[in-house]
Amino acid sequence: MRHKLYGYVIFCSVVLCVTFGGIAAFAQDTGVFKLETFGSLERPVSTFDHDEHQEMDGMECSDCHHVYENGVKAADQSSEDQACAECHTLKSQGTQPGLRQAYHQQCKNCHVEKKAGPVACGECHIK
Ligand code: HEC
Ligand code: HEC
Ligand code: HEC
Ligand code: HEC
Repeated sequence: MRHKLYGYVIFCSVVLCVTFGGIAAFAQDTGVFKLETFGSLERPVSTFDHDEHQEMDGMECSDCHHVYENGVKAADQSSEDQACAECHTLKSQGTQPGLRQAYHQQCKNCHVEKKAGPVACGECHIK
């Protein structure tokens, strides 16, 4: 009898954890980012003002939403109808960086190049 009761309590705890854990994960606001591929996140979602970025001088949609053909960036094509994760898998594939590196390389390289915008972890992943 005791054992059955313990079993029941554990079963209910698991059900509650799964249900509320799932709701919490679902409710997390990831802004424009499509992050399902990462599963649970290690860091708070990065801050990113999409409108401000897209309106910067000389910025093209394809600077971020790119299309590559045989390793060459296609000048006249963009992929804003696709999530980064639709091409960038968790692990890198040849010259195509893995998803986490794809985000980091794109954001940080430009900030370094332009000498503007954050490059330290805590400036993007703000607690
Ligand atoms: C500085 C980089 C950058 C530029 C420039 C940019 N975007 Fe994005 N955009 C992103 C990122 C990063 C995401 C999130 C993609 C992801 O996580 O899969 C995104 C997401 C989007 C989404 C999906 C938003 C949603 O809520 O589902 C659309 C639509 C979009 N961009 C359109 C555009 C268009 C149109 C332009 C040009 C006028 C543009 N973007 C310019 C980086 C950029
Ligand atoms: C220029 C902004 C920027 C900087 C600087 C930056 N990140 Fe990120 N990082 C992002 C973006 C954008 C993503 C994809 C969206 C998200 O998960 O926040 C990401 C994703 C991640 C992810 C995968 C998602 C998750 O939370 O599990 C980890 C882990 C991560 N970053 C850790 C770091 C660490 C550690 C540093 C410092 C060495 C760092 N980041 C610096 C913007 C940045
Ligand atoms: C339609 C598929 C596709 C989409 C969508 C896509 N990429 Fe890529 N990306 C590629 C391919 C293919 C390469 C490898 C290019 C090569 O061979 O050098 C690449 C290379 C990169 C590189 C390294 C070279 C460079 O251009 O800096 C970064 C960084 C990157 N992607 C980030 C992103 C981010 C961030 C997003 C979403 C905003 C994104 N990519 C969306 C296909 C895609
Ligand atoms: C092609 C260039 C470019 C790319 C790609 C880019 N940024 Fe930026 N970002 C800038 C510039 C330039 C500034 C400085 C704007 C200013 O100071 O007026 C900036 C500023 C910022 C800031 C400071 C606050 C603000 O909006 O002014 C944050 C946060 C930021 N970027 C996050 C990101 C993240 C996250 C990504 C990748 C998803 C990213 N950026 C990709 C050029 C870029």
